[in-house]
Order: sequence, then structure tokens, then C-alpha cells
Amino acid sequence: MSEGAAKKEDKPRKFQAIRGTRDLLPPETALWNRVEQTAHEVFATFGFGEIRLPIVEEVELFARAVGQETDIVNKEMCTFPNPMRFSEFYRRLRESVSKGTNEMGTLTDLLPESEMISLRPEATAGVCRAYVEHNMQQLPQPVKLYTMGPMFRWERPQKGRYRQFYQIDAEVLGGTDAPAIDAEVIEMVMTLFERLGLEGVQLHINSIGDRNCRPKYVELLRAELQKVKDKLGADSQRRIETNPLRVLDSKLESEQKIIENLPRIGDHLCQDCATHYAAVKHELGLRGVKYQENWRLVRGLDYYMRTTFEITAKGLGSQNAVCGGGRYDGLVELLGGPPTKGIGFAIGEDRLILSLLETAHSPLATRHSPLLYIAWMGEKAYTTAIRAAKNLRNAGFRVELPPVEQKFGKALGQADKLGARFALILGDNEVSSGEWTLKTLADGKQEKLGESDLVEHLKKQL
Ligand code: HAM
Repeated sequence: MSEGAAKKEDKPRKFQAIRGTRDLLPPETALWNRVEQTAHEVFATFGFGEIRLPIVEEVELFARAVGQETDIVNKEMCTFPNPMRFSEFYRRLRESVSKGTNEMGTLTDLLPESEMISLRPEATAGVCRAYVEHNMQQLPQPVKLYTMGPMFRWERPQKGRYRQFYQIDAEVLGGTDAPAIDAEVIEMVMTLFERLGLEGVQLHINSIGDRNCRPKYVELLRAELQKVKDKLGADSQRRIETNPLRVLDSKLESEQKIIENLPRIGDHLCQDCATHYAAVKHELGLRGVKYQENWRLVRGLDYYMRTTFEITAKGLGSQNAVCGGGRYDGLVELLGGPPTKGIGFAIGEDRLILSLLETAHSPLATRHSPLLYIAWMGEKAYTTAIRAAKNLRNAGFRVELPPVEQKFGKALGQADKLGARFALILGDNEVSSGEWTLKTLADGKQEKLGESDLVEHLKKQL
């Protein structure tokens, strides 16, 4: 091998973020912070408190809450053995392989379910687990919680769809199932979107019944789907057995006409569900929240009953749902807690930001530039510069203090490149006279100022 080739091989390879994950960079992160800060503020005005959850939970929590047969649990979850039990897991795996059977069974044949861990694909299950774990049913009801952070679904990545994505999630647990609560939760997310200036916002609502009326409707739907089975695609054909409601979600062009002729849940709600749904719409009206009814809105998670909703926004292409939610009475009970009402939503923060960026909101490039660049030369000037930077930063100004000495010309060039508005020039003359020079970079204007006047002077300029 030639020396050149050897050198090439020795060069450490570069890494890239794992497919479907990405870095969020400045200046865009300033917009993320603004969105999150606004959510903290708006949710607080509705009486919500923040809960912070672990990113990992037992796989069984999601299987039970979200549903074993859902795409999320079945195909998209990131699950692994508890690292403390890795060696045991692999020993059993080797044993099972060496027995020569092709049947490896499921992962949980190799380790007990409680030792299998998943990266959370959503937050509702974790919030409900925490509600039960901390006996929150003993607090004044309902308990209103929100949380934000990364979720993980190993889907095929595309615009607006990532394997690590971020949600802002809110849940109301306990108390009554009064339709006013459904409406208020929806009003809250609409208020946030309005505050953020999100454009093209459309709210879609539906009721998918409860355990009284939905099973009968699902059977009816299944029977009707059987009649047209041959005309459906493979996914929908499979779903006739596993989850016929999900067929209504299909985006396949060839299935649209068929779906339009299927029986609609709205015509098959029991009296209680129909009354609840009518009241939710009335309550939305009282709050001035505009909505569209969409009988095909069934959602991809099993825990829902009655109210379901989705919100779409501009500039997102096919992945245009920026928020999804609904009522899930009974979920807490399913997770070992007392019978508890529940309703909530999750905003897809990545999509929210995408929509904001693609419409009115430029990437806030200027917000990141320093306001003031300190051009210093000489040892004495350096100590003064450190003191000046500290005082200015304490007053809230963005200050750039170069770590090594530069000629003034170079320093001013650098200040310009960074987009600073002012340069503070500190040389031996300035330090000994106590008269500092402040240069406005746009027009080159220079002013002489004493140290004590600088902060006030800058405040006036802004
Ligand atoms: P979801 O509809 O699965 O509901 O997700 C809510 C939102 O998260 C979606 O509308 C979308 O904006 C965003 N989202 C989902 N998957 C991805 C992805 N792969 N990439 C980017 N964004 C994504 C839930 O998660 C429920 N837990 C919502 C809820 C809370 N229901 C009641 N309480």
C-alpha cells in the first residue's frame, strides 16, 4: 500500500446525525425558544403546570396505552433491553439461535417485559403513568399538566416527519367529562397558535363514540368493508381485520370514492355520545372557535373515545397536521389507576416551526448578532475590556469580547462580519484618559464616553 493510501485510511471518518434525526441550529433555535416560552405563558393562564417526564419507559406502558396493533407500537417504536441486562439478553438470544429453531419468538421471550425499554413515541402514556404513580387523584381535580420534549418514532423520514421529533403536549386528568373541558383545551391550543401568528390554521373535529356505540359501528364498518375488499389496497385490506377505523384515514386516491360511501360514525353514536358531541360544538361556538367537522378523523392511537381533533396549518405539504388530540376516558384505569376522565393534545413542534418559517417569520438572523464588539489593544485595555463586558452583559446587552488581541482594523472588520451595531474601542489612550470611543458601525460615527455613561447611552440608542 502506498503511503498516501495509508494516510487516507487513517483519517478518522466524519459522523453524521442518524437518519431521521437532526440538529437544531441558531438562529432557528431562537424561534424554538420563543414558541416554547409562549406555550409556557399561555398554558399558565389556563391553569396548567409543567411536568417533566423520562424519555424512556417500559415498552408495555406504550403497548397497553397506545395499542399493540397501532403502527406506532407495532412498527415505529425504538425498543431495547435494559442495558443492565444486555449480557443476559444476548446469552438467551445465542441459546435460542443455537437450538436451531428459526422461531426466535418475540423480544419479550428473551427478557421479561418489564426489562424491555422504549424511547417514548408520545407523552400521554407517561403523563397517565405519572398521574397514577404520584396518586394525583388525591389532588383537586382536574389535574392540568403540560410537557415538552423529544419523541421517537422510526417512520420513513420526509418533510415534517422525523424519527426524533418534538411535541408540546397538554393533558387534563380527572374531574368530569363536561364538554366545556374539551372546548377549553381546544381553545387553549388555538390561543397559542394565534399568539404565534400561525397562518392557515384549520381545526377539524369528530366524535368516535365510546365503548357502548363504537364496537357496533366498527362491526358494521367491517361488514361493509368486506363487501368492497377487492377494490382496496393491501394496507386497508389488512386493517379490515386489525382496525377498520384506520381505513377511513387512508390517503390512497383509488380508495377515496369507496370510503365516501361507507357508513359514518356520526349516524351511529349512542344518545350520550351524540349529546356530548353536540355540546362540545356548542361550547366551541361560545368561545368563538371555528371548526370543521370531519367524520373520517379517527386518529392513530387506540386510547381515544368521543371527541377527537386535529389542527392543520399552511406550508406543510402532506404532513400538515400540526396538532392532534382527543378524549381518552378510561386510559388511566387501563394503566392500573382509578376510573379517570382525560383529554389532551400534542403539538408537533417541528411542523409548527416549519409553518412559521415558511410564512411570515424569517429565521430571526439578526437577533443572534452581538450588539457591541469590544476592540481592545494592550494589557491594561484588556482588563478594562473584561470589566466593560461584564457590566454590559449584566445590563442585558449582547457583547462579543475577542479572546486574543487584534489590530483595531482587523477587530472592526470582525465586528462588521458578525453584524454588530457598535464597536467599543479600548486602547492605551482610552484607558488612561477614561474617555472611551463608541463607534456606530453603519455610519462610522464616533463618540467619546465615560465608563459610567456607557450603559445608559446604549439604552437610549435602542
Ligand atoms: P399524534 O397525532 O400521534 O398524537 O401526534 C401529535 C402531533 O405530533 C402530530 O399532529 C404531528 O404534528 C406530530 N408528529 C407525530 N409524529 C411525528 C413525526 N414523526 N415527525 C414530526 N412530527 C410528528 C399524539 O401523540 C397524542 N399523544 C396526542 C394527545 C395528547 N392526545 C391526547 N393527549
